[in-house]
Amino acid sequence: MVEVNGELRYNPFNGKEYYQEQLRKKEEIMNTVIYYFTGSGNSLKVARDLAEKMSHTKLVRITSKNMILAENNQYDHVGIVFPVYYYGLPVLVRRFVQKLKLDPEAYVYTAATCGGSVGAALKQMKALVENKGATLSAAFSVVMPDNYQVMYSPPPREKQQRLFVQEEKQADEMAVVIASGEKNVWDEKGTVAAKLMGNILSRTFQPEEKDKHFWADEKCNGCGICARVCPNENIMMVNQKPQWLHKCEHCLACMHWCPQQALQYKKGTVKRERYHHPDVQVTDLMG
Ligand SMILES: Cc1cc2nc3c(=O)[nH]c(=O)nc-3n(C[C@H](O)[C@H](O)[C@H](O)COP(=O)(O)O)c2cc1C
Ligand code: SF4
Ligand code: SF4
Repeated sequence: MVEVNGELRYNPFNGKEYYQEQLRKKEEIMNTVIYYFTGSGNSLKVARDLAEKMSHTKLVRITSKNMILAENNQYDHVGIVFPVYYYGLPVLVRRFVQKLKLDPEAYVYTAATCGGSVGAALKQMKALVENKGATLSAAFSVVMPDNYQVMYSPPPREKQQRLFVQEEKQADEMAVVIASGEKNVWDEKGTVAAKLMGNILSRTFQPEEKDKHFWADEKCNGCGICARVCPNENIMMVNQKPQWLHKCEHCLACMHWCPQQALQYKKGTVKRERYHHPDVQVTDLMG
C-alpha cells in the first residue's frame, strides 16, 4: 500500500503514475488566468464564478498599475472578462490585450458583460487576439444589470435578481465549455444595428473628455474611496476633495462605490440610485 496525496493505493506502480498525473494536472490548472476589468463588480462576479468552477485560476484586475502584467503573461489558458462600453471594448481592456504576451497555442476565451447588447465588442476582441497570432476559441455575452448611471437608473431589484440567477446558471455552462477546451464558440447577444454602431462609437471615445462633468457634492467627507477604486489612477485627492485627471475610462466605479452617494455627473445623477453587484465588496477593488 502506498499513500498518494492522502489516498491509500494498492499498486505502487499505479500509485506513481497517479501521482505524476496529479502533478501534471496541477501544473496545467495552475497555468490558468482570468484578466478582468470592472466598474461596478458585474464582470468580477462572472470572472470569479468561472475561476471557482475551474479552481486554481488566478484572477487579475486590469488596471493602469497592472499593465506590466500583460507583457509578462506566462499563462497559456487565458480568460478576459470585461464590460461592454458603447457597444465596444473599454479603452484599458483594448490596451491591455494589445500588450498581452500570448502564445499562439494558448487557449483564449472571453466573456463580455452588458446591459443587453454587446455590439461589436466580441468582434473587436477577436481581432485583437488574432492580431497576436492566437485564436479566440470561445466568446460569450452575459446580460447583467446596466450600470450606465449617467443616463439611467439601475434596473428594478426584481430584474437584477433575475439576471443574477441567470448569470450563475450561464457561468456553469460556460465553465463546462471552457474546461473542455471547446473551440469556435460564439455567443453574441444584441442587435445588428448595435454591432455596426459599435465600431463607430468606440472610435469616438475620448478618455480625456469623459470626466469633465463629475463633481462631488456637500455629502463628500473626503474618504478617498473614489480614488482607490479607480482603475486608471484618474482621481487625486486635493484638500480632501476628488479631482479628475482627464484619463477616464468612464467605468463609473468612483460614482457607484462612493459611500456617501456624493459623487455626481452633471445633474441627472443626484436622485438616481447607485448600483454595485451585491456579492462584490468595495475592498475587492482596492489593490
Ligand atoms: C460607459 C458605459 C457604457 C456602456 N455601454 C453599454 C453598451 O453599449 N451596451 C450594453 O449592453 N451595456 C452597456 N453598458 C452597461 C455595462 O456594460 C454593464 O452594466 C456591465 O455589466 C458593467 O460591468 P461592471 O460592473 O463589471 O463594470 C455600459 C456601461 C458603461 C459604464
Ligand atoms: S468616495 Fe465619495 S465621499 Fe469619499 S472622497 Fe470620494 S466623493 Fe468624497
Ligand atoms: S474617474 Fe471614475 S469613471 Fe473615470 S476611470 Fe476612474 S473610477 Fe472610472
